[in-house]
Amino acid sequence: MKNNTDTPHMIWREVFRHCYPEDTDLRRILLQHSQSVAIKSLQIVSLHPELKANRDFIINAAMLHDIGIKFCDAPGICCHGDKPYIQHGIMGARTLRELGIEERYARVCERHTGTGITRTDIEDRQLPLPSADYLPETIEEQIICYADKFFSKSHLERTKTIDQARNSLLKFSEEGLKRFDKWIKMFE
Ligand SMILES: [Fe+2]
Repeated sequence: MKNNTDTPHMIWREVFRHCYPEDTDLRRILLQHSQSVAIKSLQIVSLHPELKANRDFIINAAMLHDIGIKFCDAPGICCHGDKPYIQHGIMGARTLRELGIEERYARVCERHTGTGITRTDIEDRQLPLPSADYLPETIEEQIICYADKFFSKSHLERTKTIDQARNSLLKFSEEGLKRFDKWIKMFE
């Protein structure tokens, strides 16, 4: 899957076909969740033209942000891999790099957990991740990470309120909540 430099419009479809070839519950969960995140991300893009976010990239990257979940151990959402769930971002990034997909997509996978995870979070809480900073930086990374906080994969039909999304972040750091609060001001 080489030669993606000019962003084929629907690159995510090809990746889905490759990574989730069968029509399984897991594929359906991933597809529906990713679509919810893509739609909310696009609403933010439409609401905020001043952010100058790249629409085509947002669609594809939102559809691919959780592509690594199948490697993780989360039977409640039909994932029967052996990796801790917190690794789904780095596993997704690894998958996309192996497929020769542009690096900017891998970065979205790696940087969307919580409101991003820092080296300090990893060290203080002994998280099973290579010690590095995984904070969303580009505007597209920030929008997708924010939009993702409104949708769980166990209750696909629900959209969380801002308060519910915020509450789901309480288990992360105080700094993480501050990033979310900044995004509320930027994106709502
Ligand atoms: Fe997600």
